[in-house]
Amino acid sequence: MDNIKNRIENLKKAKNAVILAHYYVPDEVQEIADYIGDSYYLSKIAKDASQDTIVFCGVSFMGESAKILNPGKKVLMPDITADCPMAHMAEVEKIEAVRRQYDNVAVVCYINSTGELKKHSDVCVTSANAIKIVKALPNKNIYFIPDENLGHYVASQVPDKHFIFNDGFCPVHAKIGQVDVKSSKNAHPNALLLVHPECREEVLKEADYIGSTSGIINYASQSEASEFIIGTELGVMYELKRKNPDKKFYPLMPDQICEDMKKITLEKVLECMENESGAVEVTDELRNSANASLDRMLELA
Ligand code: 13P
Ligand code: SF4
Repeated sequence: MDNIKNRIENLKKAKNAVILAHYYVPDEVQEIADYIGDSYYLSKIAKDASQDTIVFCGVSFMGESAKILNPGKKVLMPDITADCPMAHMAEVEKIEAVRRQYDNVAVVCYINSTGELKKHSDVCVTSANAIKIVKALPNKNIYFIPDENLGHYVASQVPDKHFIFNDGFCPVHAKIGQVDVKSSKNAHPNALLLVHPECREEVLKEADYIGSTSGIINYASQSEASEFIIGTELGVMYELKRKNPDKKFYPLMPDQICEDMKKITLEKVLECMENESGAVEVTDELRNSANASLDRMLELA
């Protein structure tokens, strides 16, 4: 293991590379990253990266967004099959139909989406900035894609706008139900419940805090409480425990695991850096059209 880490470290210098990792990738990959964060933070780091190569340890919409935001850089993905299923759960035809049906509509696209969906949207959001951005939009009607759960949560926080929802969902978060909340609260009656807004409404309404992966980590770190039930992918436990060695963290459900994020191994990071494999390519046409919605997110957030 140390040998792999040393080789990655050497390649980083030799190739002038920076390694970005999402909180959901395996612990040992987070350990070698230069920057670990939520989708919003990583997209800002990718846009401003000055190194020649960005190694993106995450799923494909993250690498694709990095390439769109900073096209002059080589963006490498350790496993190009690591994909977010929700990123595909909306349709361009439906976007066009909503645009025909409603005046004064903004298509708001969760960053967990393909470049093609971003291209047809007005603005991107992440779970860390969605409420702020939707409030700032001049439009009365909001078509929120692809995540229905995040869409409903944002709608509950911005009651003066009219929302049209799409039926996408994250399989990892959407499978958590009220019964899981009940049994975890019974097992840990003194713990606060912190959840990601990709969870269903029946889970969100029981929560003490709702936020992005960074939001959950910051909340737990600043809280006076010492026990927390965590309702998001279990990769966040690495940073939660690192920052708070004396606090206790329990999974809301035992199998909150994103199989795609877990495809990113140290061996694959080394291999993609050695062979410069897994390079993300986007056409100029897609880059120009999808960049507008990503840039607008960075502007409004
Ligand atoms: P964050 O933006 O909160 O890191 O979430 C990304 C994600 O994929 C949640 O499932
Ligand atoms: Fe996609 Fe869910 Fe995995 Fe996040 S946890 S990358 S939303 S499948």
